[in-house]
Amino acid sequence: MRPLYLIGFMGTGKSTVALALAELLGTKACDMDEEITRRIGMPISAYFETEGEADFREREHEVLEELSEELSAAGGGVISCGGGVILRADNLACMKAHGTTVLLTAEPQTILQRVGQSDHRPLLRGKKDAASIASMMEERLPFYEKAAEHRVATDQKTPEEIAGEIVKITENAENAGLRK
Ligand code: S3P
Repeated sequence: MRPLYLIGFMGTGKSTVALALAELLGTKACDMDEEITRRIGMPISAYFETEGEADFREREHEVLEELSEELSAAGGGVISCGGGVILRADNLACMKAHGTTVLLTAEPQTILQRVGQSDHRPLLRGKKDAASIASMMEERLPFYEKAAEHRVATDQKTPEEIAGEIVKITENAENAGLRK
């Protein structure tokens, strides 16, 4: 099996769903933000402040390339991507070359509830309201659309339900490919 990339806006549940999906598939889950945090040795919000977003995006690209190689060599796995991974064309090329992308979506209200008061997402600082989230999502939409091979809405669903849907969608697509 090729690696599965979970992409989507902050708070769409990528990290939690990746764990449920990996369990269902009996494979490994990797979380890009966790790996980046481990490497930079500080929270992402602190890194944005000291080094800036451009530097973060470079780190993010390196981690995506490395995890993609690692999971491809291991025969698959699930990668929970940072919400901004879709902003770079070379990231899209990497994901398409190694595996399959699944876009998780959620309504701004759902995102708001999920991100709550947590302060670790620098891009949401001072923007914890549905209107600001909706407008950021609108700006990102073309990038997500371009990157997405499959889509799953996550509102009012458990991580296990979402993982089950992803398995069905990706298996159907693989079977359709085999029948061609
Ligand atoms: C970002 C999303 C975050 C994290 C960083 C930037 C983005 O990841 O990578 O704060 O640009 O959307 P999550 O989507 O896992 O919150």
